[in-house]
Amino acid sequence: MHLKQSILISVFVALVSVFLAFVGDEKGIHPIKPVAIPPSPQREGDPAKGYDYLTTGDYLKSGIPYSYYTVFAKKDRNNYLNRTGKNATVPYDFNVVQSPNKVDVVVPTCLQCHGQVFDGKLVVGLGNTFQDFSNIAKANNPVSDIGTAIMQTFSPRQYKAALPLFTSFDAILQDMQTEVRGVNSADRLATLLVAHRNPQTLEWQSKPILDIPKGVIPTDVPAWWLLKKKNAMFYNGFGRGDFGKFLMLSNILTVKDSSEAREVNSHFGDVLAFIKSINPPKYPKETDGVLAEEGEEVFVNNCSKCHGTYGTKGYYPNLLIPASIIQTDSLLYKGNQQNPQFIAWFNNSWFATGDHPAKLVPYDGYIAPPLDGIWITAPYLHNGSVPTLRALLNSKERPTYWKRNFTKPSYDYEKVGWAYEPTDKPKRRTVYNTTLPGYNNGGHTFGDKLTEQERRAVIEYLKTL
Ligand code: HEC
Ligand code: HEC
Repeated sequence: MHLKQSILISVFVALVSVFLAFVGDEKGIHPIKPVAIPPSPQREGDPAKGYDYLTTGDYLKSGIPYSYYTVFAKKDRNNYLNRTGKNATVPYDFNVVQSPNKVDVVVPTCLQCHGQVFDGKLVVGLGNTFQDFSNIAKANNPVSDIGTAIMQTFSPRQYKAALPLFTSFDAILQDMQTEVRGVNSADRLATLLVAHRNPQTLEWQSKPILDIPKGVIPTDVPAWWLLKKKNAMFYNGFGRGDFGKFLMLSNILTVKDSSEAREVNSHFGDVLAFIKSINPPKYPKETDGVLAEEGEEVFVNNCSKCHGTYGTKGYYPNLLIPASIIQTDSLLYKGNQQNPQFIAWFNNSWFATGDHPAKLVPYDGYIAPPLDGIWITAPYLHNGSVPTLRALLNSKERPTYWKRNFTKPSYDYEKVGWAYEPTDKPKRRTVYNTTLPGYNNGGHTFGDKLTEQERRAVIEYLKTL
């Protein structure tokens, strides 16, 4: 071959690969290599103030009148958060706040999904996999039937204080049901709420302004203590820019308009500071130090390039792993996360403007998460399809259908995860069914090539993170 021709060919090859890399990185379309996520500037804040705001504050300002709530709901005797006043009488995942027209209302909080009682103790920041989204339409039917009847008995002031929450519930609860218990449909909640909100003023629109895609995509809930290491939020890393704006997103459940959102937003530097101050709970049983050390070496050689290293000199690479490599269920990154109307709504909305703009950057794949406190965050993968670390690290052991006891939960400290029972067929709601779209448990087969001894060692090491 002539020299000139071969130079031309290599220039062409170089151009094509630059083009592919560009397309892969910038647009997230068919990337072929892991992509490092750049950091974005974040707000500073006061963690103590953030905690107070989360557990007593009025980031939702519409709810059920307290005087009605106390008639219908049992008084909560646990007071896990050691709160005072009316807050001490409601469960940890509700706050009692004053509505703008001065009615005491009970509002759901972030801890509905981001707090879980584990071994008798509340772990703030642990994803709650007990919340039952598979029954949410039925369980909340009263909102439209009995609920409407009850609302008729509210005083005009109480009615006004409850209306935004009931309006929202009416538009969403029938359309966010998951197929099985143990997974979360908060992403669906976002899709539905956004469709009812003007992107700039955030005012409620009774007719949806976006096409609402079919299907509820199930997810697990990431632990809050991981966020301090991450340069992007959410399983597919599409949450970029100011994290506070994403943290306050629940406010659109009942927000009146962007002036309320501005006020709520002013607290979210503090909330972010609180979330960053949380440390993972320590594994409560004995670990075998020698085996864990052996496991650390296996981990460094097989896992660290994606999940980083731990300890005082730990390093986290913040990588997005393309679908072609990770091969876990694709529905989540293909769904909402790439719905052009949803992305456009957000990126042109109030959330994307001002001093602290946020934006969505879609990607074909998932972030390799930090593994701090991984022992307590079962089930595993972004859709919670794998019950234990053992099964995660040996794909042949992953059950196709499995169930766990939600009433008397039992944790398996050796396989590390929920004690489960494999079943030979699906059974609606109570059995996790990995053959359903969005619920697949394939992919992430990096543990398959380990020997049995190496796998035991890695699990021992993972217990110590
Ligand atoms: C209805 C359940 C629900 C509620 C309520 C909720 N979240 Fe979440 N949250 C989720 C789910 C599910 C995800 C993961 C979604 C994804 O990545 O696709 C998530 C993601 C997050 C993350 C990203 C973590 C990461 O590592 O990427 C943070 C931080 C967070 N939520 C904070 C909050 C705060 C603060 C509130 C209250 C103001 C809140 N959430 C209310 C369900 C909920
Ligand atoms: C090529 C990058 C890569 C390698 C190598 C890798 N992982 Fe992962 N890992 C990921 C990604 C990406 C996810 C998230 C996948 C998802 O949720 O769909 C993940 C998820 C996990 C999870 C579940 C996290 C959770 O919260 O559910 C664990 C545990 C884990 N990996 C452990 C390991 C171990 C141990 C090894 C080494 C034997 C390893 N990984 C090798 C990229 C990698």
